[in-house]
Amino acid sequence: VKTAVLISGRGSNMAALIAAAAAPGFPAEIALVIANKAGAGGLALAAEAGIRTAVVESRPFGKDRAAFEAVLQAELEDAGIELVCLAGFMRVLTPAFVERWQGRMLNIHPALLPAFPGLDTHERALDAGVKIHGCTVHLVVPEVDSGPILAQAAVPVLPNDTPDTLAARVLAQEHVIYPAALARHASGLSPGGADPTQALVVPS
Ligand code: GRF
Repeated sequence: VKTAVLISGRGSNMAALIAAAAAPGFPAEIALVIANKAGAGGLALAAEAGIRTAVVESRPFGKDRAAFEAVLQAELEDAGIELVCLAGFMRVLTPAFVERWQGRMLNIHPALLPAFPGLDTHERALDAGVKIHGCTVHLVVPEVDSGPILAQAAVPVLPNDTPDTLAARVLAQEHVIYPAALARHASGLSPGGADPTQALVVPS
């Protein structure tokens, strides 16, 4: 299944997806990485791995999200993409674009949804005093950080955690569950494949 990864920054989840997809028999091929920022660190990692990259800067489009997405869609179609993974992609997509990729666009969120949608999840988890935190892979629907959950992993919140220490513990699990969820979802897109609605729970 030809898969694109959309990034805005360092691309560590993207790198985890590329590494996993390099294994023989992995049901998804990372065929394209698109960044909406020319300076995204992940672009160099993708190029080193021999993956086709593209930059579609969102900033010049300002509030015209549909025009930005038309260019994005053209890049995806040009590469024959069938599945999209958002990985630290910091641009909200319009309902029209999301609906075009319905059931074929995944996102990773650094919290146990439906808790802590949105930004600054680790700081908010610490402020709330939760003892368990984690990450979620879900299908993208028009409402941000919602949609059917494909995989989750939980981590403990430790007494001296800062947002950074907690983020690092969660990120290590993101790198485990995103490739696992992609594999399951991609194989579910072919007849007789795994049931992608059965969520994965990865113990830490
Ligand atoms: C990850 O924590 C992801 O869950 C969040 O943004 C971060 C991106 O990190 N949405 P990276 O670019 O994958 O390293």
